Amino acid sequence: MSESPAASPKSKSMDDIVALCRRRGFIWQSSEIYGGINGFWDYGPLGAELKRNLKDAWWHDIVKCPPAGPHGDIIDMVGVDCTIIMNPKVWVASGHVGGFNDPMIDDKETKQRFRADHFYGLFITMKLKAEPVALANLVAKGNSGFLTDEWKLIKTYVGTFSEVCQANHFFNPGTKVGALKVQLGTTTYSAYDGYPGENPISESVRMHLVDKAGNELLGYLLPISIAYATENAAAIPSPFNDKAGSLTEPRQFNLMFESYIGAVRDDENRAYLRPETAQGIFCNFKNVVDTSRVKVPFGIAQVGKAFRNEVTPRNFTFRSREFEQMEIEFFIRPETANEWYRYWRDARFAWWKSIGLAGDNLQLREHDKDELAHYAKDGAGTCDIEYRFPFTAPGFGELEGVAHRTDFDLRQHARHSGLGDKLKYFDQELQVQMQAQGASKEEIAERSKYFPHVIEPSAGADRGTLALLCEAYTADPGRPSGVFMKFDPRMAPIKAGVFPLVNKEGMPEVAHKLYLELRQKWNIEYDPKSSIGKRYARMDEAGTPYCFTIDGDTLTAGTVTVRDRDTLKQGERIALDKVGAFLAEKVG
Ligand code: GAP
Repeated sequence: MSESPAASPKSKSMDDIVALCRRRGFIWQSSEIYGGINGFWDYGPLGAELKRNLKDAWWHDIVKCPPAGPHGDIIDMVGVDCTIIMNPKVWVASGHVGGFNDPMIDDKETKQRFRADHFYGLFITMKLKAEPVALANLVAKGNSGFLTDEWKLIKTYVGTFSEVCQANHFFNPGTKVGALKVQLGTTTYSAYDGYPGENPISESVRMHLVDKAGNELLGYLLPISIAYATENAAAIPSPFNDKAGSLTEPRQFNLMFESYIGAVRDDENRAYLRPETAQGIFCNFKNVVDTSRVKVPFGIAQVGKAFRNEVTPRNFTFRSREFEQMEIEFFIRPETANEWYRYWRDARFAWWKSIGLAGDNLQLREHDKDELAHYAKDGAGTCDIEYRFPFTAPGFGELEGVAHRTDFDLRQHARHSGLGDKLKYFDQELQVQMQAQGASKEEIAERSKYFPHVIEPSAGADRGTLALLCEAYTADPGRPSGVFMKFDPRMAPIKAGVFPLVNKEGMPEVAHKLYLELRQKWNIEYDPKSSIGKRYARMDEAGTPYCFTIDGDTLTAGTVTVRDRDTLKQGERIALDKVGAFLAEKVG
């Protein structure tokens, strides 16, 4: 067996992963025969199975069989399936019509548009000993501190922090970086010693610049704040051609896709494709409470499509315009928010690990207060569960957010729908408790009806699928395929291959019978043709954990060989009538 290299996404090439996805039918560009369409992706036979396995696992582990609560108690969870187009008032109430905007900057000359929060600048100063803390304060004030003569913004970049760093070799602690050259007047400086995160400013790199004569400058790669970009639009060099004067100030851009209902295309008939599945859940909160036996704390879950007119869709399916979410709105008593927030944060992190994303490539990141969405400002916390994709490495990209949304959404819907207090939850258990404690009637009436708070774990099914693909991709030059997909067996699109060693001598008949039996329960590949090596190679690229081969001994001794994808061992023989039990034990 050849040695599998360590599974670090940094060492994996996204181009290779995309090529495999295309070649083997995991993911294709939507409407590819017409040249595709930016930000939209189709899943082929293997990809559709993989994504379905992910969503089924989520539904099973969240809705049908949720984990035990913080004190070992059973959790109430129910599912819903709501429409993509809802009454447009929903999006006014949720804040999306007014606030679901990304500030954008246009380059009038090159006609390129980019997100203002994906804009970085290289600031330099002649002073080598700038105080890091003072510098952090300058950044917090919206870069305005850099408007002094001491600091010059000499170059700009577009992308996420890790993309900018990767493309410009900014992460190279202690090494000379020849790639970055800075021209100041007639002097050329080379940058060296890029130290990310070694200063109090998040998303920054501190570096030294040196000219031929050994003169040194201090440089900082920093996010350019909206305030700085607004005040200095005319003077900021374009990230595309280094010229000043072609950038606009940041402007708002609504991300919701619009459509019209009925024959007349006017404002009255305007509707939106939902940008998140969450609002369908909030709108049905009362319906669920009235028709099922759930009691606070309980959750409502939904899997479904969401649409965002992302300005810069990128990184394969990571930022798409049509994508699928797997969301839970978990309704709780307000005073239990801290406990439930921590519970869901940890439970969701453990879940991603359980489906094969364990190790250094998965991390939990608590948000700083100033990163929080409007609905989470006063909450118990917000965190992201992040995966280190090859295109974000050494940084991470968000898979799922867990947020304490307070009672923001229910209150908004109560107000905008006119239902008011009718949307409140009546907590009968609390009423009984308070009665037993001798609380007054007024107090009981006031406290037993309330808007529950919400903890929201919101995951992306497409990002999850992409993470599974990146994690599974394992180069192995020792195999005929040169690569295999090391999926967790529960996620593997095909659970087993069933192959007659040769397509004659009674072997196909036995193999086909076994295939018909196994496919009742699992997705199984039956392939009687081509060399056995080629068939194994195909299964390696599909990430099939086991192959069963029917050979001469099967016909005489009633046993089959088992080929293990990861170890490449095929010495084990098991009885033909035990194959189903073997697979059930291995893949569930
Ligand atoms: N209801 C809360 C909400 O929608 P979000 O952080 O905007 O929160 C939740 O989205 C998840 O949806 C993200 O963690 C990500 O996995 C996925 N997601 C968001 N935008 C996406 C996009 N443009 N393409 C693919 N997945 C996306």
